[in-house]
Amino acid sequence: MERLRSHLRTRSETYRQNREGMLAALGKLDSALAESRAGGGDKYIERFRQRGKLLPRERIELLLDPGSYFLEVQPLMGHGIRGVGSGGGLIGGIGIVSGVECVITANESTLKGGAINEWGLKKSLRLAEIAEQNGLPTISLIESAGADLPNQSQIFVPGGETFRDITRRSKARLPSVCVVFGNSTAGGAYAPGLSDYTIMVDGGAKVFLAGPPLVKMATGEVTDDESLGGARMHSRISGVSDYLATDEADGLRLAREIIAHIKWKKATAPDQASEAPFYDPDELLGVASMDLRVPFDQREVIARVVDGSRFAEFKHEYGQTLVCGWAHIHGYLVGILANNGVLFSESSEKGAQFIQLSNQRGIPLVFLQNITGFMVGRQYEEGGIIKNGAKLINAVSNSTVPIFTLMTGASYGAGNYGMAGRAYEPRFLFTWPNHRIAVMGGEQLAGVLEIIKREAAERAGETLDEGGLATTKKIIRAQIEKESEAFYATSRGWDDGIIDPRDSRNALGVALSAAAARPFEPTTSWGVFRH
Ligand code: COA
Repeated sequence: MERLRSHLRTRSETYRQNREGMLAALGKLDSALAESRAGGGDKYIERFRQRGKLLPRERIELLLDPGSYFLEVQPLMGHGIRGVGSGGGLIGGIGIVSGVECVITANESTLKGGAINEWGLKKSLRLAEIAEQNGLPTISLIESAGADLPNQSQIFVPGGETFRDITRRSKARLPSVCVVFGNSTAGGAYAPGLSDYTIMVDGGAKVFLAGPPLVKMATGEVTDDESLGGARMHSRISGVSDYLATDEADGLRLAREIIAHIKWKKATAPDQASEAPFYDPDELLGVASMDLRVPFDQREVIARVVDGSRFAEFKHEYGQTLVCGWAHIHGYLVGILANNGVLFSESSEKGAQFIQLSNQRGIPLVFLQNITGFMVGRQYEEGGIIKNGAKLINAVSNSTVPIFTLMTGASYGAGNYGMAGRAYEPRFLFTWPNHRIAVMGGEQLAGVLEIIKREAAERAGETLDEGGLATTKKIIRAQIEKESEAFYATSRGWDDGIIDPRDSRNALGVALSAAAARPFEPTTSWGVFRH
C-alpha cells in the first residue's frame, strides 16, 4: 500500500488556530472527566476510606492485568443533567484481565450509594450490548443501593433487561463473573443470582430480596444483615455465592483466577504486525477546526491514524466527496469511508459499492463522519439523490462486518444514517470534541421554521407578529445549538465517549481487537437496490 502524502501546513495560522481551539475543548473535556472520576465527592470518598474499602476505580485497577489499557465507555453519561452525576453512577469499559479482553463494570458506590438511575441504566444496557455484539466476557463489580428510589419509574421496567441479558449471554456461552463488595438488594440480588460465577466479599456483601427492616414489616421476623444475606451465609448455606473472598483484594484475585480458566480464545488475529503511522498523530489537533464551516481533508486524518500512513484508495477520481480505501489499524485490515464534503449520488453509490466489496472479503469498516447531509436541489433530486442515498443506507444497514464510527466533525441529516450513525449499530462510536449532531444546524432549522410560519400566516391572511417570530427564532436557534454539541450527545449516550483526536488510532485499535473476539460472516446479501 502506498503512503499518503500529507499537505498539512503545520506552520500555518489555520493549523495554529485549529490546535488552540481543540486544546481548549480538550481542557473542558478533562474537567468534565475529572468530575466524573470524583464520584459522589470528598465526603463520601472519605467515608469509603474510613470503612477500609477500595474505591470503585481502584477495584478496576486491581482487577486489570498490569499495564492493561482501560477503554472507558460513556464516562460522561448523564453529564450536566440535573440530579444525575457525571458518569450516571456506573463505571464501565474494556480492559484485559488474565490476558482476556473483558467488559468491566463497577457501580460508582460513592454516589448515592451506587443507586442506579435511568442514565446509568442506559449505560449498563450499552455495555451489555458491547459484550453481546463482540462476544466478550463480563465482570461486574457490585455495590449498589439498587434503584434510585425517587426515580424508580424511569428504570423499573427497562431495568429488567439487564437481568435478561445476563442469562442470554450465558446461553451464548459468554461468561459473566460478578464480585459483590457491598449492598446488592432486591432486584439487584438477581445480578449475583444470574451470573455464571459469583464471588462475595466476607463482611461486605449484603445480598437479599428485602433488608431486615422490610422483613420485619412483612413477616415480623427479626434478623440482621449478615444472617439474612452475608457472604458466609450465601457461600455456605444458600449457594448463591460460589466463592467466599476474605477481603476485597481477594475477591478481585478470584475474578482474575476465574477468567484465567474459562478457556477463552479469540476468533481472529490481526492481519499483520502493527506499525506506527508515518505522520505524527499529535498533528491531529490541528487538522479539524472547532468551527465546522472550515473544511479539512480526511486523508490528513487517515494519514495519522493508520499503520505506516499507508492507504489503498478506491475510485479516487469518482464521487470525490467520499474518500474510500483500505488500510491497517494496529495490524487489522479495515475499509475506511470518510466524508470530504456533501454526499452526492456518485459518492453515495461509490460508498455502497465499497461496503459491498468489503463485506465480500470480510473486512471491517471504519466510518469517519464529517457530513452536513446529502446534496439538495432540483438538479440532484432529478439525478435520484434519494434512491442513491438509499443505496448507501441499505448497504450500511445490511452489512455484517463489524463497523466502527468516528465523528470527526459534523453529523447532520440523513448523512448520519448513511455513514453508520448510532442507529446503524456500529460496534463502537467515538467522537471528537468539535463534533456536532442534529437534523440540521440551528441557523438553518430556525430559518426553515420562519418560512413555514410566514407561509401559514399568508395562507390564513393574518399579519405575522414579527417581534414574537424573532424571539422564537432566537430561542430555537440557541436550543438547537446546545442540543447539537458533543457534550450534549455524549451525556445522552449517543456515542461511546468523546476522545482526544490523538487517541483515535488506539481507541479504534482496542475496538477492533474487541470485535475480533467473535467470528463474523461476510455477506453478499442485501435489501433491494432501486436503480
Ligand atoms: N436511591 C436514591 N438515593 C439513595 C439510595 C437509593 N436507593 N440509597 C442511598 N441513597 C442516597 C442516600 O440518601 C444518601 O444521600 P445523602 O448523603 O444526600 O443523604 C447517599 O445515597 C448515601 O447513602 P447512605 O445510606 O448514607 O450510604 P451508606 O454507604 O451508609 O449505605 C446503603 C449505603 C446502600 C447500604 C444504604 O443507602 C441503603 O440501604 N440504601 C437503600 C437500599 C435499598 O433498599 N434499595 C432498594 C433497592 S430496589
